[in-house]
Amino acid sequence: METLKYDLIILGSGLAGLSAAIHASTISKGKIKIAIVTKLHAMRSHSVSAEGGLSGVLYGKDNKDSLTLHAYDTIKGSDYLADQDAVEVLVNGAPQEIKFYEHLGVPWNRTEDNKISQRPFGGMTIPRTAFAADKTGFFLMRALYDTVLKSENIDIFHEHYATSLIMDKNRFNGMFTMDIASGEKKLLLGNAGIIATGGAARTYKLTTTAYSSTGDGIALAYRAGLPLKNMEFVQFHPTSLVPTGVLITEAARGEGGYLLNSKGERFMSAYAPSKMELAPRDIISRAIITEIEAGRGLVHEESGMSHVLLDLTHLDHKKISEKLPMIKEICIKTLGLDPDNDPIPVRPAAHFTMGGIHSNINGQVMSGPSGPAMANLWTAGECGCVSVHGANRLGSNSLSQCSVWGRITGIGAATYLMKKDISKYDESFSMKFAQGEEERINGILEFDGKNNPYDIRESMQETMDLNMGVYRDRIGMAKAKKELQVLQEKFKDIYVEDKNDVYNTNLRDVLEIGNLLDLSQVIAEGAIARNESRGSHALRENPKRDDKNWMKHTIAMNINGKIQLSYANVKVTKWQPEERKY
Ligand code: FUM
Repeated sequence: METLKYDLIILGSGLAGLSAAIHASTISKGKIKIAIVTKLHAMRSHSVSAEGGLSGVLYGKDNKDSLTLHAYDTIKGSDYLADQDAVEVLVNGAPQEIKFYEHLGVPWNRTEDNKISQRPFGGMTIPRTAFAADKTGFFLMRALYDTVLKSENIDIFHEHYATSLIMDKNRFNGMFTMDIASGEKKLLLGNAGIIATGGAARTYKLTTTAYSSTGDGIALAYRAGLPLKNMEFVQFHPTSLVPTGVLITEAARGEGGYLLNSKGERFMSAYAPSKMELAPRDIISRAIITEIEAGRGLVHEESGMSHVLLDLTHLDHKKISEKLPMIKEICIKTLGLDPDNDPIPVRPAAHFTMGGIHSNINGQVMSGPSGPAMANLWTAGECGCVSVHGANRLGSNSLSQCSVWGRITGIGAATYLMKKDISKYDESFSMKFAQGEEERINGILEFDGKNNPYDIRESMQETMDLNMGVYRDRIGMAKAKKELQVLQEKFKDIYVEDKNDVYNTNLRDVLEIGNLLDLSQVIAEGAIARNESRGSHALRENPKRDDKNWMKHTIAMNINGKIQLSYANVKVTKWQPEERKY
């Protein structure tokens, strides 16, 4: 086993991870040695799939926009579960990020007078989403990746899968990794860490996310005894393409697309008359399911999936080509359907993990429900929960979140490392841990049980789709809990078919499935406990928000293999909760 030593180890290579690396490198003037560990090639991180854009106030006076309005929209969108001080950090930091990307060469769409174009997004009062056609994530990632490549003090470990965090008395020491290409095990030691591995939407079958969105960093933190926050809040994006779940960006509605039921009605008038197709995602997803349940949906012939229609046929074809070219291409290539001429079949699919690793406003990982924050471990992006999205995220706030907390955590970690008196990792403790971990992973490779892990994954995802979806009810959630317990038991007796070292994606899949199973159980446990409806958690038996009893964050910890829930206060600064109407 090879041992490598770094100052800072960043797990994850999406927008948050790359951004953290760049800012850590810049603030330390290239003096700290940084490793980025990613199970993919960095440029295949799920951030490249972000389509619609990044929110931030750029031309406040001209647009009648303000930071206060962006904060208010975000807090109202979160159904008052966002920490309001953190939301102010988000909205204050977002404009700087748009300009930072501009300086790195991101080709933002422009207005005729050469300003950065901003388009409307759901729940936002003013158009404030900057975009590069409908490939925003790709362009941002390209710019960051190019910058990282120019930094001599940053090494990227592509296709390295982290199996465990090494923690010693609330101190991060590094991580144990497996080189997927060779099977070689590597111990990475570090004096500071940032976890930025993205979300866990692959706990569901129908999802807009990549196969890689398996919540690895969240699960590793949970298994290392660190608290998770608000995991029951899973965002369903209203418009995933039927039958594949591929994302059809909200920007399609921002540019003027309509949602229609089988009667050809713009049904959003019954659910959010003032915002229509630009209501927040939780509201639109519920509206679509309600229409389908009321018999006003359509059925996709081959898959039997119910859906509604996203109609762009009334839009200027030039606008579609210029602002939504990828959507057009996806529809033509995968369905043989040209959105210029025909409406697109869409339905809600799991899209975003609002919860994640419990952190403070600086992105520092909390060691327990109420702290203290860890001195040398941070989290950024979708896998962390500050919380700025509360119970429902507004579209395009995630790229802002990744960028703002990528910067904050990168600077935080570098500043910590540049202090003279930091405690250094205990090498012998880590070596011992790594030997145990190597045995554990080799042991998994030998598994020769009777259950197929892929069947377990399939059953888990079906259970989550069926019982932990847009609407939830007590019987369904209890069923999910029971079924997930059964699947966990079955998972103890699986077989790993591929016994080789080289590109053993079978072994990687098994480790991912283990992560997904743990996180599904945390999602279910938090949802069962939350006896109200708030944002994305819509409980049929209790459709009202209950601020008196439930305006609080759920904290989940792994105590001797059992999920233990507790609660933490929501920070309210200026905006008192009110009824959420659109
Ligand atoms: O619809 C979209 O383009 C997704 C954006 C987001 O999740 O922020």
